[in-house]
Amino acid sequence: MYGVNGNPVIFAGNSHPQLAEDICQYLSQDIGQIEVFKFSNDNTFVRILENVRQKDVFILQSDVEPVNDNIMELLIMIDAAKRASAGRITAVVPYYSYARTDKKDQPRVPITGRLIADLLETAGADRMIMVDLHAGQVQGFFHVPVDELTAMPRLVDYFTERDLGDPVVVATDMGISKKARSFADAVSAPLAIVEKRRLGNEDRVESLNVIGDVKDQPVILFDDEISTGATMLSAVETITQRGATEIYVVATHGVLPGDASARITSNSHIKELVITDTVPLSGDKVNSKIKVISIAPLLGEAIRRIHEGRSVGALFTR
Ligand code: R5P
Repeated sequence: MYGVNGNPVIFAGNSHPQLAEDICQYLSQDIGQIEVFKFSNDNTFVRILENVRQKDVFILQSDVEPVNDNIMELLIMIDAAKRASAGRITAVVPYYSYARTDKKDQPRVPITGRLIADLLETAGADRMIMVDLHAGQVQGFFHVPVDELTAMPRLVDYFTERDLGDPVVVATDMGISKKARSFADAVSAPLAIVEKRRLGNEDRVESLNVIGDVKDQPVILFDDEISTGATMLSAVETITQRGATEIYVVATHGVLPGDASARITSNSHIKELVITDTVPLSGDKVNSKIKVISIAPLLGEAIRRIHEGRSVGALFTR
């Protein structure tokens, strides 16, 4: 049993301050005071500006660009909280980027998802909150408890209200087909699957085939994350050739580096790109075809329940 006193204290690194603010607004509390900056020699420095002795501390940092800097920042923030005698430290990582490097599927490659887990625990994380991991097994990389939240209920609600008629949910590859099946069931739609092949370690993919029928039907193209958009755009081309009418693209994580956002939304077959705010989106990456659904209430409620020792799983029981 941890000895934690008072309200939870929520700190944010530099990766996604808006999400931390939104979570605090949901919880009707102020964000924790902390300084996180780099010295001129490129060393990251952290100073917690309030007492956290025996407090239940939550540190929010999403693994977004610059990913490695943000991970280092998180490790240092955890270390600062541990040395300040926090009662319990939870790392809140809405997007755990290295989950994609989760197995040794080529000779002499790392399992970086595991390495980062080890680093977080060594720094002092007592537990983790993450959202829609690329592979659920990544939970097992940690020895501390992991609460993996899912944005699915929110995405399902969105499409249920949107009422597209009789859509087909299409999984962008075999790997995501199980989650796509659950999503399809929840929106009462049939499932089709694109057979995808990745070409080398670059961001190149090839869609080979569609298992299922999409002809003359609206499609909800489903994935856990969109990075360069190569997977999505390849799938869009294939299902368009198979006669899909209009395509709605949905994913929890919209990483969208460089011009990915513009490349996806300029595709005339794509009517809408629906993502959550696990990754910040701003400036020229935002446009009228992109719908961002906030997961701040979900994260806020999970933080409240963890703090109060109540069920988090109950959030997803319908
Ligand atoms: C891969 O297995 C994932 O489910 C996504 O399809 C992938 O991360 C998307 O990456 P990109 O947009 O660069 O093709």
